[in-house]
Amino acid sequence: MAEVRPVTIENWQTLINLKVRDDQKNFVASNLYSIAQSKFGDEYEGLWDLFPFGIYEEDTPVGFLMYALNFQHPTHQAYIQRLMVDENFQGKGYGRFGMNWMLDLFREDERIKVVGISYEPDNEVARKLYAGLGFEETGKIVDGETEAMLKIR
Ligand SMILES: CC(C)(COP(=O)(O)OP(=O)(O)OC[C@H]1O[C@@H](n2cnc3c(N)ncnc32)[C@H](O)[C@@H]1OP(=O)(O)O)[C@@H](O)C(=O)NCCC(=O)NCCS
Repeated sequence: MAEVRPVTIENWQTLINLKVRDDQKNFVASNLYSIAQSKFGDEYEGLWDLFPFGIYEEDTPVGFLMYALNFQHPTHQAYIQRLMVDENFQGKGYGRFGMNWMLDLFREDERIKVVGISYEPDNEVARKLYAGLGFEETGKIVDGETEAMLKIR
């Protein structure tokens, strides 16, 4: 059964070995970059705290996700900053599992009203996955990526 586990002193080095296909490399930053970024947070219309996790099947790492929280932000208080499934494990439901895991977490937190996400305009798999979960495009392009939002309360 799949599960999500925090990045720790024990697993970060195996998680940075996970890779997407060569033709997907412009869709997502490396896990090494994300884990480094998570130490300092992100600045975008305020300060966001970053929370990095591995996606596992039993004890096998299969993917990575990272979300961002800023309860002061006027439009969205959670942001799905990163989602990737290793090239050898794609198409088996792990990406959807990771998304649902994050959304369940956000739904339990009253401080989160709207969740944001963004993706490269030509990332059809990501667009369909997020649209299917209820994300609606805002029409805004942020750093070259299509922005979409999901209202959860
Ligand atoms: C996007 C990504 C995270 C999806 O994870 P995944 O585990 O491969 O996807 P899932 O198996 O959970 O499938 C989710 C949906 O995408 C579809 N899908 C997955 N891979 C696909 C492919 N290569 N072609 C077409 N559809 C695909 C599935 O059919 C499924 O839709 P359905 O449930 O309606 O049938 C993964 O493909 C990935 O890491 N891609 C490269 C990095 C990336 O683009 N990250 C997102 C950045 S915004």
